[in-house]
Amino acid sequence: MSDKVVEVDADFPAKLKPIFEPARYKVMHGGRGGGKSWAVARALLILATQKPLRILCAREVQKSIKESVHSLLSDQLGALQLGGFYRVLDTEIRGSNGSRFIFAGLASHTTESIKSYEGVDICWIEEAQSVSKRSFDILTPTIRKPESEIWLTMNPHMLSGEAYQRFVISPPTGAWVCQINYSDNPWFPAVLDVERMDCRRTRPKEEYENIWEGEPLRTAEGAYYASQITAIRSQGRIREVPYQAGIPVNTFWDLGYNDTTAIWFHQRVTMEDRFILAYEDSGESLEHYARYLQERGFAYDTHYLPHDAENKSLQTGRSVLEILESLLPGHRFEVVPRVENVLSGIQDTRLKLSGAVYFDAVNCHAGIEALERYRKEWDEKLQVFKDRPLHDAASNYSDAIRQWGQGYMPSAMTKSRNKSGRRSWRSS
Ligand SMILES: Nc1ncnc2c1ncn2[C@@H]1O[C@H](COP(=O)(O)OP(=O)(O)OP(=O)(O)O)[C@@H](O)[C@H]1O
Ligand SMILES: [Mg+2]
Repeated sequence: MSDKVVEVDADFPAKLKPIFEPARYKVMHGGRGGGKSWAVARALLILATQKPLRILCAREVQKSIKESVHSLLSDQLGALQLGGFYRVLDTEIRGSNGSRFIFAGLASHTTESIKSYEGVDICWIEEAQSVSKRSFDILTPTIRKPESEIWLTMNPHMLSGEAYQRFVISPPTGAWVCQINYSDNPWFPAVLDVERMDCRRTRPKEEYENIWEGEPLRTAEGAYYASQITAIRSQGRIREVPYQAGIPVNTFWDLGYNDTTAIWFHQRVTMEDRFILAYEDSGESLEHYARYLQERGFAYDTHYLPHDAENKSLQTGRSVLEILESLLPGHRFEVVPRVENVLSGIQDTRLKLSGAVYFDAVNCHAGIEALERYRKEWDEKLQVFKDRPLHDAASNYSDAIRQWGQGYMPSAMTKSRNKSGRRSWRSS
């Protein structure tokens, strides 16, 4: 232990100066590039030199330490010349006075397991807009040491979002709430300013104001599934949804845009539709996806493929369906027929999403974010939404789940199969 006072020279955006005043909750919300993450990282690194602190850096989902603020903190301690004070370990950062930074994903914790954090002095929740009601409900009463603090940084999404309602619209007693945007950040980088201006020029006003001014989206205008996902989230139906052995898994596929393939893994348990895993990759062969399915160790019911899976490739003369059938012998496939109008497929999916639907918070995280973002294409010239979906990186998972929306019927339906083992739509 050293009692030496550590001198640190660090600048903060003026709006964030109160960050050092004690408060039970410190809520920093705003658009991209406001300086939130840097300021919090620096403030915590400084505070933890002054006395031994146990600091929990949490986010909703953290599959690996790479997804945490571990690397941001280690960069910042370098920039603040605190390399002599801190030791950066693989999954922890330790100060020579006994301070510790630890990292966790909230979605994978239970009411029991979260108790190991009761000794925490400061909990920093990064990307708080993605944190579920359930996670807040189990975390906040766990941070219970006298004078303990909970710091949140977030880029608001929907106005009805859990974090926004809970900490900005009706903040708890003792909260310091601060909106901070790029215009408050004296070090806002030029590259980001180009991004910002492009966004203002090409995107709907509401979207620009959401991304860069930190204004929450008031309506789900233009977003096909946002209000359904918001409801699913606020009802706590994005949580741990484990694979139930003994119940076969269905998969729903999109063979998509930019050579990306997206697959949802689903179980129908009692009357519930449970999505246990969402997987996406690009530039991979069908062998890769077939192997991925086998490696999960699930028992499968049916794989639902989009209509174009029956098209024969010009190079090989074979269709995706034929190739998958040969790679996964004995598996059952169904090709979901093309709908005349994609909007009616989207509508079917919205209706189904309003039912008893659950998503695994960790394993479906990327898929859920894509569903939330799936939106109409914006007509720059006319400044209106076109009546068709935008094809971008977010649309693959959304197209994939449409095979469920359009094509899936719980197995009470008669399963008549043609000779190849495929279920026939016409004869069912
Ligand atoms: N104290 C600082 N000194 C120097 N540069 C800074 C400082 N704070 C922020 N910056 C610069 O501003 C950029 C944006 O800051 P930061 O990543 O903290 O913003 P943010 O609000 O967390 O943004 P996002 O919402 O995109 O996560 C940083 O990448 C860095 O270049
Ligand atoms: Mg940030």
